Amino acid sequence: MSVVKINVLNVPAEQREVLEKRFASRAHAVEGSDGFEWFELLRPVEGTDDYLVYTRWRDEESFQAWMEGPMKAAHQGGGAEGAERPKPAASGSTLWSFEVVQQAAPKSA
Ligand code: HEM
Repeated sequence: MSVVKINVLNVPAEQREVLEKRFASRAHAVEGSDGFEWFELLRPVEGTDDYLVYTRWRDEESFQAWMEGPMKAAHQGGGAEGAERPKPAASGSTLWSFEVVQQAAPKSA
């Protein structure tokens, strides 16, 4: 079964637009990574102020491979290391890891 990796971003209210703009011009590199299955940027509506970057992968190895290579390039405009990057829109982040235990999709007619 797949694994879900969620990056939880603490984003001050005045930085929300900046964050969403960064994602709007994101690298689109993750789509080409082996084992990548899904991505969603989730904007908080109720119950939390944190944005969630939801990703799903075929297995742990696929996620680790992305983290060790393409992830760094995909974050040059914002999150990861690098001297000339703009100030991150997020004030903090936490990585959550899950294993998919069950899943469902709509019945095809
Ligand atoms: C240091 C913590 C992190 C921060 C502050 C951060 C923030 C961001 C930002 C602002 C972007 C938009 C592109 C850019 O401006 O660089 C982005 C892209 C992305 N982030 Fe993160 N991120 C972090 C770590 C992670 C981790 C651990 C994951 C794993 C789930 C992740 C998943 C993604 C994905 C999938 C994209 C889109 C990449 C693409 O289009 O190829 N991020 N992140």
